[in-house]
Amino acid sequence: MGNRIILTGFMGCGKSSLGKAVARRRGILFLDTDALVEQHALMSISEIFEKYGEAKFRQLETETLQQLAESDEEFVLSVGGGLVMNPVNRPILKEIGTVVYLHCSVDELYERLKYDKSRPLLQGAADRRERIEELLSQRSGVYEETADVTVSNTARAFSDVVDELVSLTDGSARDAAVTVNR
Ligand code: S3P
Repeated sequence: MGNRIILTGFMGCGKSSLGKAVARRRGILFLDTDALVEQHALMSISEIFEKYGEAKFRQLETETLQQLAESDEEFVLSVGGGLVMNPVNRPILKEIGTVVYLHCSVDELYERLKYDKSRPLLQGAADRRERIEELLSQRSGVYEETADVTVSNTARAFSDVVDELVSLTDGSARDAAVTVNR
């Protein structure tokens, strides 16, 4: 359990791509709450939002997390960017493992998300950058408070961030870890 890593942070901060690389390096499973919700619902997140609304998606997200908390497996878990906003989910994350906030600047988030069509919360905004800033300002305090560790993914080489994340679950290197929040 102590070796599990959960990656949280805003949409587009790199949770899935980094999570997959960390899991591959450690030879363990990579899981993603968004993908698990889609598998369970047999439809995409956009379709869930469209047909049943955000509240239904949030309910499925929490159910997925509760199921993961019952598992004994080793894994790296990426969670949807809004999952931490439900207070019910926060202790469950802590129960699962080490919670990492993958921090990314607004400029980089905007670059990665400016043409995105798969995130319902970003569609239809008159100014996408402003929308990102608005959501991030509502969430960044919660990301920080929920995390055991904050890792930067701004202007850094992918492999450096992977190394740092791998070191978080490697006892010998853990003490040297970057920004420890507690
Ligand atoms: C959301 C983030 C998405 C997905 C859904 C809602 C959010 O996941 O769960 O579109 O509220 O920030 P990613 O953070 O993996 O993009």
